[in-house]
Amino acid sequence: SDGNKLKDLNFLVTAGGTREQIDPVRFISNRSSGKMGYAIAKAARDQGANVTLISANSSLPDPRGMKIIKVNSVDELQTEILTEFKKNNVLVMAAAVSDFKPKKIAKQKIKKLDDENSISLVLEKTTDILKEISKLKKNNQYVVGFAAETQSPEKNAKIKLKKKNLDLIVLNDVSNPKIGFNSDLNQVTFISNNGIKKTTEVETKDKIATELMDIIVTNFKD
Ligand code: PMT
Repeated sequence: SDGNKLKDLNFLVTAGGTREQIDPVRFISNRSSGKMGYAIAKAARDQGANVTLISANSSLPDPRGMKIIKVNSVDELQTEILTEFKKNNVLVMAAAVSDFKPKKIAKQKIKKLDDENSISLVLEKTTDILKEISKLKKNNQYVVGFAAETQSPEKNAKIKLKKKNLDLIVLNDVSNPKIGFNSDLNQVTFISNNGIKKTTEVETKDKIATELMDIIVTNFKD
């Protein structure tokens, strides 16, 4: 269903999961496939938006009709978002971003030694990209975050909405293996900073992406 509801709007969408290098051959990451973010990028494109997709480690094929930027780590994602954000009206942050990264990246492959039964990996906090972005947000920009929760989902999503100064948060309960990470299906609750609250059925990520576009169209006033 092609449309033009988002004509002349510039959309920045992030998708996939960041990877934090431990040594030349190992990393810490998460189970994000990129499906949710790619569905959102395509839904925005199909409604006439100019889309930039920043993709972290997804194996999905490149969608047609948009600018695509590939990144690996949180730091790379942050750099690209900082460059792109000012050119865009809407940011949708569907990427699963590491909250911690190894404090040091080993230059050589870490060896297994005979006299060591355990080793420690020291992690440090990464930058909260959304929190930084919201400091730069202008009145004519609209920022959507996600909340991936396994406990007290609504309470935690509302805390993230406030703390990251978002216009809208898309909550998914990632403790259910049938939805969320790597599934074609999801079930979300949209919570806006101006009182909208709407829970979807379990449905395809494409359908959820279309519903998200409808909410953005009605909720985002230039
Ligand atoms: O890719 P799929 O397999 O389709 O799976 C989809 C999904 C489950 C990854 C997606 O629906 C989802 O929930 N994405 C957000 C995952 C996440 O990082 O959630 P969070 O609750 O930890 O973070 C909250 C928000 O802050 C997110 O918008 C996140 O992108 C952002 N964030 C997080 C950490 C950080 N350092 N900087 C950030 O900006």
